[in-house]
Amino acid sequence: MTPQRQLFSSGIVVVLVFSISISLCFGRGTSPGSTSRNRGNGSRRLPLHKGSSTRPLTPPPIRVDVFGGAKGDNRTDDTKAFERAWEKACSSNGKVVLLVPPHKSYRVKQITFSGAQCKSHLTMQIHGTIMAFGELSDYHFPNNSKLHYWLTFESVQNLVVEGPGTINGNGDKWWQSSCKQNNKTHKPVPNCNNDAPTAVTFKKCNNLMVNNLNFEKAQRKHVSFENCTNVKAFGISVNAPEGSPNTDGIHVTETKNIHISNSRISTGDDCISIISGSRNVQATNITCGPGHGISIGSLGKDGSEDHVSDVTVTGARLNGTMYGVRIKTWPGGSGYATNITFQNIQMDNVTNPIIIDQNYCDTATKVINGECKPPPLQGRSNAVKVHNVTYRNITGTVAKGGEAIKFDCSKTVRDGCDKIVLENIKLDKGAAVVWSNVGKLTCQGLVSPNINQCRNNIKFAL
Ligand SMILES: *[C@@H]1O[C@H](CO)[C@@H](O)[C@H](O)[C@H]1NC(C)=O
Ligand SMILES: *[C@@H]1O[C@H](CO)[C@@H](O)[C@H](O)[C@H]1NC(C)=O
Ligand SMILES: *[C@@H]1O[C@H](CO)[C@@H](O)[C@H](O)[C@H]1NC(C)=O
Ligand SMILES: *[C@@H]1O[C@H](CO)[C@@H](O)[C@H](O)[C@H]1NC(C)=O
Ligand SMILES: *[C@@H]1O[C@H](CO)[C@@H](O)[C@H](O)[C@H]1NC(C)=O
Ligand SMILES: *[C@@H]1O[C@H](CO)[C@@H](O)[C@H](O)[C@H]1NC(C)=O
Ligand SMILES: *[C@@H]1O[C@H](CO)[C@@H](O)[C@H](O)[C@H]1NC(C)=O
Ligand SMILES: *[C@@H]1O[C@H](CO)[C@@H](O)[C@H](O)[C@H]1NC(C)=O
Ligand SMILES: *[C@@H]1O[C@H](CO)[C@@H](O)[C@H](O)[C@H]1NC(C)=O
Ligand SMILES: *[C@@H]1O[C@H](CO)[C@@H](O)[C@H](O)[C@H]1NC(C)=O
Ligand SMILES: *[C@@H]1O[C@H](CO)[C@@H](O)[C@H](O)[C@H]1NC(C)=O
Repeated sequence: MTPQRQLFSSGIVVVLVFSISISLCFGRGTSPGSTSRNRGNGSRRLPLHKGSSTRPLTPPPIRVDVFGGAKGDNRTDDTKAFERAWEKACSSNGKVVLLVPPHKSYRVKQITFSGAQCKSHLTMQIHGTIMAFGELSDYHFPNNSKLHYWLTFESVQNLVVEGPGTINGNGDKWWQSSCKQNNKTHKPVPNCNNDAPTAVTFKKCNNLMVNNLNFEKAQRKHVSFENCTNVKAFGISVNAPEGSPNTDGIHVTETKNIHISNSRISTGDDCISIISGSRNVQATNITCGPGHGISIGSLGKDGSEDHVSDVTVTGARLNGTMYGVRIKTWPGGSGYATNITFQNIQMDNVTNPIIIDQNYCDTATKVINGECKPPPLQGRSNAVKVHNVTYRNITGTVAKGGEAIKFDCSKTVRDGCDKIVLENIKLDKGAAVVWSNVGKLTCQGLVSPNINQCRNNIKFAL
């Protein structure tokens, strides 16, 4: 064999081994209720598949009701039962299924499902509903903690969390007491708070799969991936009202190699938000609305240095959202958002389908002299650079009074937005297009509404 051939055939072996280990990691556990073998709760060991005696043995699922003693009557506090069942599942050897049975509603308080000591390859199957308690007094946050959590999966390797059940944050009281009111009929609340927790957080999880799950009425964000690598999330459904504040659908931070697909998100804030430290993020076949659309950022808040790169959104439908695909950065920050592609996207009645906002300032921040600069950043001229962003095959309609394309770039940093490509854009011809301080802007194919200046690749001066 020539060296090249050897290299090639050992490549095949590597691919084979790799795909076998992937199927081991991500292999589905036994599904409950389908055959009688799943109803056992003893230590009986049964083959994974009927009629195959050579396959590895897996124990029956660990049920939160049978093992942990959870009631699931939509009233009893089942927190301890879930913790016991998790401990048991985590300390087992080999593959294990932790089962939340169907047709029941389990009420739980804050829980951290830690994987640091786990010996097993865990699949959590949620068939019923896991629901939060409704009162703010049901929550206790550690003093001085900035980020608040309801359910957290932390440092779990090779975890699968799958449905078809529901996780319900029961967030009404949190929304009503939130300082950020995006409910038009609601006046700012005295004694408001910004304490609402994220409903479900995956923290430091590697090789994670989350699928076929419904998330509803989160207290704040619905699902957050923090500091994870190799994540697959698909078949996710998110449902919260348009007026619910800060209820992002899927949030990605400090996470590398994540693919989110085939998901449907209706909520009061971002459909998907991707923030600092995230790299290689793919979103495919995502339906959003209502909500604020798919966002990269915000980045650079309080002068921070943030990096996001290699984000591809392919195949999305946004209906009735405030924004479509948005990159938002605060004045005064540093770092970059780069290598970003938004393609094959349908917009229906979207107020700002394509937007880069390098002068982002959320409503809670003081605008000083008409500029978005919180006091410590006044006079500081920096920006998170937005480079190499391609918008390709984006079609649809713009909401009344909206702007089809808006590039509002930093005026203090030269080429703060640069290497922006618009290719085959077909949005309402009559809709507004606005831009300022854009570096190199290239148009390819049809771009409507028309940006005259970009046809010849004119480089704009500051
Ligand atoms: C679980 O085991 C207990 C006692 O071992 C038994 O009473 C109960 O019926 C079992 N439940 C199921 C679902 O098999
Ligand atoms: C659980 O209780 C809440 C009220 O606290 C109610 O809105 C919900 O419909 C109940 N869910 C089920 C499944 O009974
Ligand atoms: C948190 O603060 C409260 C009141 O200030 C105090 O009573 C409590 O001991 C503190 N808890 C911790 C864990 O520090
Ligand atoms: C991410 O996790 C690594 C270790 O797994 C840790 O060193 C790092 O501080 C974490 N980053 C954040 C932002 O939590
Ligand atoms: C919006 O405000 C109205 C009137 O106060 C209230 O009935 C409704 O529940 C609020 N919606 C949300 C999502 O908070
Ligand atoms: C796209 O996602 C939806 C769920 O939101 C699913 O029903 C549909 O089959 C997916 N389409 C493709 C081509 O996978
Ligand atoms: C957009 O959403 C509205 C309200 O849910 C619905 O009536 C309409 O049919 C949707 N439009 C498209 C093009 O799907
Ligand atoms: C952007 O993509 C190019 C080409 O693939 C790559 O060389 C570069 O490292 C990427 N930039 C970042 C910051 O990842
Ligand atoms: C720009 O980003 C795309 C991904 O969105 C990448 O494929 C391409 O290589 C990048 N180009 C440069 C010059 O970095
Ligand atoms: C353009 O995007 C639409 C979805 O909005 C998709 O159906 C179509 O196949 C895409 N066209 C090309 C050439 O990729
Ligand atoms: C378009 O969206 C606006 C809000 O942005 C809404 O008031 C209007 O009813 C929507 N129109 C259609 C046709 O859905």
